[in-house]
Amino acid sequence: MNIVLTGSIGNIGKPLTKELVDKGHSVTVISSNKERMAAIEALGAKAAIGNMFDPDFLTEIFTGADIVYLMETMEAAGDLFDENVDFIEKINEIGHHYKMAVERSGVKKIIHLSSIGAHTDKGTGIIVFHHHVEQILKQLPEDLAIKFIRPVGIYFNMFSFINTIKNKGAIISNWGGDRKEPWVSPLDIAAVVTEEIEKPFEGRTVRYVASDEVSPNEIAKALGEAIGNPELEWKVISDAELLKSWLNIGFNEQVAKGFVETQASQRSGILYEDYDKHLTVLGKVKLADFAKEFAAVYQSDEV
Ligand SMILES: NC(=O)c1ccc[n+]([C@@H]2O[C@H](COP(=O)([O-])OP(=O)(O)OC[C@H]3O[C@@H](n4cnc5c(N)ncnc54)[C@H](OP(=O)(O)O)[C@@H]3O)[C@@H](O)[C@H]2O)c1
Repeated sequence: MNIVLTGSIGNIGKPLTKELVDKGHSVTVISSNKERMAAIEALGAKAAIGNMFDPDFLTEIFTGADIVYLMETMEAAGDLFDENVDFIEKINEIGHHYKMAVERSGVKKIIHLSSIGAHTDKGTGIIVFHHHVEQILKQLPEDLAIKFIRPVGIYFNMFSFINTIKNKGAIISNWGGDRKEPWVSPLDIAAVVTEEIEKPFEGRTVRYVASDEVSPNEIAKALGEAIGNPELEWKVISDAELLKSWLNIGFNEQVAKGFVETQASQRSGILYEDYDKHLTVLGKVKLADFAKEFAAVYQSDEV
């Protein structure tokens, strides 16, 4: 099949491109960076260099595709430290550009990379943009089939713990405890997207993707052991304290408030209320696997 992927060869895009090429599909990867062309071609895909904010470009590239994989990313909207960016509004724009390009190009099958929490527009913080884009795409004519793929929290979010582990000796956040939560690897997301690309499309469907279910205290233990600090603790502070520290670092206020609220919804369970109604088969990459990756990054000078 002719498949067009947005999201370049990022965390999910790279393994996804590899899997689809291996399965014999003709894959076109959209990147905003022309220097990425050689790396995309080395994976056996075609590179289309252009922008998510350019509906004419998107229309041209989508034309003739059997399936398009659509993702929206905060990176495309702006710099997380730029106070003047309205991330929710900018990502809405991407949703409208995708809708327009799909309609004009005549493509009939869409995979939308959304997120856990997209079931509601209340209380989930910054990730509400995924809910909005789902709603925009749902306005497409009924004969267009859409699979909404909703990954849970991705393991790589845990790299943000490195700073407080190194500087304050603990993981410090506004949620914690012993309640198990789902986490996912980009590799398992790519595997599910590949599977859904090859299965029949009909109407509008939702599928959650998760790899493991572990509690914050289990995460602290696994990551602590991996970095040679088995006593590593996960400490909980208030929303107000976390917000203050993120604003001090210089994050855009919408982003800082938005992520504090997203994490508060992990604490309250709002984030998981729809996930809990679905039976999700867990993928292959477990916390123990990610802990090795975490330790390698922790011990390098990258962070
Ligand atoms: N973190 C979580 O826990 C979580 C949970 C659920 C869902 N999600 C969602 O998962 C997605 C993350 O996917 P990912 O990790 O594969 O993304 P990623 O690695 O951040 O890759 C996104 C790529 O998009 C390209 N890009 C950026 N701006 C662009 C623009 N204006 N036009 C065209 N391309 C542009 C960039 O590549 P080039 O430089 O090559 O253009 C970038 O590397 C996001 O939608 C996120 O919200 C995240």
